[in-house]
Order: sequence, then structure tokens, then C-alpha cells
Amino acid sequence: MSIIQNLLNSRRSIYHFTDQKVKLTDLEIAFEAASNAPCHKQTHPWNYYVLGDETRKKLLPTVISLSKNKAKSNKEEEGSSSLNRAISKIMDVPVIIAVTTKLSPDDSFREEEDYAATVCSLHNLVLSLWGMGIGSQWSTGSITRHPMTYTSLEINNEKERIVGFLKVGYPENIPEKQKKKVTEIRKFLP
Ligand SMILES: Cc1cc2nc3c(=O)[nH]c(=O)nc-3n(C[C@H](O)[C@H](O)[C@H](O)COP(=O)(O)O)c2cc1C
Repeated sequence: MSIIQNLLNSRRSIYHFTDQKVKLTDLEIAFEAASNAPCHKQTHPWNYYVLGDETRKKLLPTVISLSKNKAKSNKEEEGSSSLNRAISKIMDVPVIIAVTTKLSPDDSFREEEDYAATVCSLHNLVLSLWGMGIGSQWSTGSITRHPMTYTSLEINNEKERIVGFLKVGYPENIPEKQKKKVTEIRKFLP
């Protein structure tokens, strides 16, 4: 099987990362792949924001409040373990990238096509990283959608929407996932 087929079929979302640092030069290679994704009308609707420590710390008050609210609504004890886990998901991940897509409030079709293009670009990024042995996980957790996140990242929520955070690092392990068989997902029409 070709290298590209192996790459496509072996990619899995990675939830646990080793402490190994991701080189900036490798990130730049992946961003070039992201930039080469298809987009209709040459809108290039995606932007990538790599979160430094200072920006991550700015997110912590919101992370803490979301975690406490979640514990309350799940009627859990407000234990420190879930709070520490929530903080660790922001502070201890080797690289976090906020991915945004351009908004077009007056043109819903353009906005939908732009979202599709942004997902193509994001997946180019993911696959490029995977080809270098670097894993990632797309997250749409509540922190990625909170108004304070836009404030902390200085993203204008009238112009761009955060489609998620991409968490990036070297895989500690590669989970197995059950996927549908080809015969279940494709039909040849007469
Ligand atoms: C749009 C989108 C949003 C996702 N958001 C989350 C998330 O918030 N938390 C999470 O644990 N995984 C998230 N994932 C990862 C999926 O759970 C994962 O892709 C799925 O389990 C299939 O596994 P695979 O990526 O290894 O094939 C997201 C994936 C996509 C495509």
C-alpha cells in the first residue's frame, strides 16, 4: 500500500502525549500543508493561533469556572481531581492550536463552504503531522466556544469562529477505533 494510504488509514486521534517537544520547524511544515488545502473562491478562510503559556494562563479562570459548573450539573463532588484534569488539558499539552474559520453573516452558503474548506485545511495539518510521527486531537470542548476564550485570544467573534482546539504532541499510545466497512458506506448507483 502507498505511503499516503497508510497515513490516511493509520491516523487516530491521540489523547495522551509524551513530554517530547514538537519542533517549530515541523509545525511550520504542517502549516504549509494546511495552507495548500482547497478553498472555493480563494477565500483562505482559516487561521491558526498557536497558544503560548501566557495565553493559556489567561484561559484558566474560564477553565476553572467551566469545570466547577460541570461538576455541579453532574452532581459530582467538587473534587480537585476533575479540576486538575481540566487545568492539565490546557497547561500540559505540548502544543495547542486554536483553529478559526471566517464568518460571512450575510452569506450562509459562503460560510458553509468556508467551514468545509477550513476542515480540509485542518485535516491537511493533522495528516502532515501524522506523517512526521506527531499526533493530534481535535477538541470542541466548552472552553473552545466560550466568549472569554475569544477575548483571551483576541479573536473577533464577529469575523471568525473557533472551530476547535487542535492538541498536538508525540503519542504516548495510539488508540484503536472501530470504523465502518467500505461496503457499509458506499453504494454504486446504476
Ligand atoms: C469535529 C470534531 C470534534 C471533536 N471534538 C472532540 C472533543 O471535544 N473531545 C474529544 O475527546 N474528541 C473530539 N474529537 C475526536 C473524535 O472523538 C474522534 O475523531 C473519534 O473518536 C474517531 O476517532 P479517530 O479520530 O481516532 O478516528 C472530535 C472530532 C471531530 C471531527
